[in-house]
Amino acid sequence: MLKLARLSLLLIFLSGATFCLKAQNAVTIPIETKTNALVLQTDKDNRLGTIYFGKKLLLTSENAKISQAYPYNDPNGGIYNSAYTPSGSWNLLEPAIQVTHSDGTTSLELKYVSHQVQKIDENVSQISILLKDPAYPVEVTLWYKVYAQENVIEQWTVIKHIEKKNITLQKYASANLYFTADNYILHHYHGAWGREMHPEETLLTAGIKTLDSKLGTRANLFQPPTFMLSFDRQATEEEGKVLLGTLAWSGNFKLDFEVDSYHNLRMIGGINPHASEYSLAPNQEFKTPSFISTFSEHGKGEASRNMHNWARKYRILDGEGSRLTLLNNWEATYFDFDEQKLSGLFKGAKQLGVDMFLLDDGWFANKYPRNDDFAGLGDWQENRKKLPNGIGYLVKEATKAGVKFGIWVEPEMVNPKSELYEKHLDWVIREPQRPEHYFRNQLPLDLSNPEVQDFVYGVLDNLFTKNPDLAFIKWDCNAVVYNGHSMFLQKQGLPQTHLYVEYVRGLYKVLERIRAKYPKVPMMLCSGGGGRVDYEALKYFTEFWLSDNTDPLERVFIQYENSYFYPAITPRNHITDRSKVGLKYRTDVAMMGKMGYDIVVSNLTEQELTFSQKALENYKNINSLVWKGDLYRLQSPWEKAYASLMFTDAAQSHAVMFNYLTTNRFDMVYSPTPIKLKGLNPTKNYRVTEINLFPGTSSTLNADLVYSGDYLMNIGVNPDMGLKRTSVILEITEVK
Ligand code: DGJ
Repeated sequence: MLKLARLSLLLIFLSGATFCLKAQNAVTIPIETKTNALVLQTDKDNRLGTIYFGKKLLLTSENAKISQAYPYNDPNGGIYNSAYTPSGSWNLLEPAIQVTHSDGTTSLELKYVSHQVQKIDENVSQISILLKDPAYPVEVTLWYKVYAQENVIEQWTVIKHIEKKNITLQKYASANLYFTADNYILHHYHGAWGREMHPEETLLTAGIKTLDSKLGTRANLFQPPTFMLSFDRQATEEEGKVLLGTLAWSGNFKLDFEVDSYHNLRMIGGINPHASEYSLAPNQEFKTPSFISTFSEHGKGEASRNMHNWARKYRILDGEGSRLTLLNNWEATYFDFDEQKLSGLFKGAKQLGVDMFLLDDGWFANKYPRNDDFAGLGDWQENRKKLPNGIGYLVKEATKAGVKFGIWVEPEMVNPKSELYEKHLDWVIREPQRPEHYFRNQLPLDLSNPEVQDFVYGVLDNLFTKNPDLAFIKWDCNAVVYNGHSMFLQKQGLPQTHLYVEYVRGLYKVLERIRAKYPKVPMMLCSGGGGRVDYEALKYFTEFWLSDNTDPLERVFIQYENSYFYPAITPRNHITDRSKVGLKYRTDVAMMGKMGYDIVVSNLTEQELTFSQKALENYKNINSLVWKGDLYRLQSPWEKAYASLMFTDAAQSHAVMFNYLTTNRFDMVYSPTPIKLKGLNPTKNYRVTEINLFPGTSSTLNADLVYSGDYLMNIGVNPDMGLKRTSVILEITEVK
């Protein structure tokens, strides 16, 4: 077997390091993780196609034979499996790339030239494959970064040319995959504000199924670029072949799933080409965002653990670090606060036992004070009436009270009722010929403009410079792009169709600068809920706000679905007063991620305060399991009237199980059968203890019993949920 390890630091130029269009012996390129392989091969005309995707063969040498098993002999079939499908030449299906050359020609052909394999370390390798058009000097490099142990492949594309004038890219996908199976079942999401991550499962039939966004900024509001694709039959948590994938891009995306006439599936994903033709200058490189995927033959659970392991280790800022608990004032006060009220909340935060107080929206703007969401966005000076002594004073007061201090910003946005709008209309994304159209009474600033990038960077830099002890940033982004027009691009003589791409690139430039100067400060990504999380943004953010819907029953479903893609160290779950559901249920639900509060502590009863203080102590004991452990989903709330999940540590000596009833219908509330645990060691012994009990209640479980891992995984444990026990948290500890 050709082991990537043996290729250490070896640069391989296969035939054609010099440009060569002659038919030649097939070149086979295996892109292998620990257990899987994506195998590419050239055809007789030197075009590169995908010949295999799945569990890797024992003998890598046998990869070369795979293509003969799939003869696609009709006049078009030979290009359906293209590793990066060009447009306008031979191809009749959905392309991965579409180009208009500088002479107006619209066809592109791509032929294999060479490839290189580079071993970065014991686990990570990078493969790049150069393709060129024989008739025009346009080249495409396909990049694959392989994280072997995690079974994750990150892939992107770089497009370049040396034609005399600019070429136009009409489409420039990140990934073009090809699958062969009996059936393809797509698990994807749709939603809206407060209804994030609603799952759909669809059998893909002939034609194209598209997941996309054209929203520009908070691109995921209606659907995120995250999906799971089952092959042959619907994968379960433990069984079945499944690909879990997503695009790492904080803007418009498009993922096409096309079943071709051989019943093979073509998946093409990347930036949404909608209104985004890109004029590429000679020698300029266009790098697409990364498409990130993992494949498992053992169900969705393993696929999602792969993704979590990869994300914590390689992607999320401080992904293996720790996180702060906090008290936020948004739902507690909305815009209505002053220094005195806030000082009271600081004391509440301390009394509760959280690490930090987070001041939300409403602290800024004077000419047009931010007393509601109609005014003030863009004017990032402390409101003198509410905060006469400024943020610095609040930081000191919070410190005196014994908690850290964090702050909310929404630096990419402007209210038309603001001084910023009056001074810098040219910074605003708006179509001068048309009436403005608002989303939450605001408009996005034009981040394609370097001056706007400086401004946005300056908002954060000023806050940190004036208040070096600021401990946390919540970065909000509520509006979408309507009337996408940039005065900056117009002045530069650049096409307006660059706006959606350059906006996101501008955002990343700002975030790069912030992280260069402030590498560690935790920052939460937020956009009126989970509208904006992705694995590019999480290079800069430590966490994200999953949904404005803090009703715990809704959260069980939203958090459950989100858990497939993002490890529990990233989503913030807050306990609020939005729902009348009991405090224990709200707390237990928040604990399965990054727990926080958005309440008035002084409104808690004595019992509720005692319960919450103890819950925060309990959280300290289990947070490393939740943040860094292996997640096993034991029961989906979509299938039964409860959800059950558990996290185990790597040593299999400590675990925590969360159980949530999702109905109050009398005849459905019992849990008469035990729930089988997962991820334990069958030969170890464990004690199961109920935690987070509300004062005055006691557990109905016998904490004296000791069980083997084998027993717990084959017989299980019955959390005894019912109308009086709607949520149950069990700590499972090894007994030596
Ligand atoms: C939307 C966020 O999701 C909320 O948590 C809050 O920060 C508001 N914006 C503030 O305007």
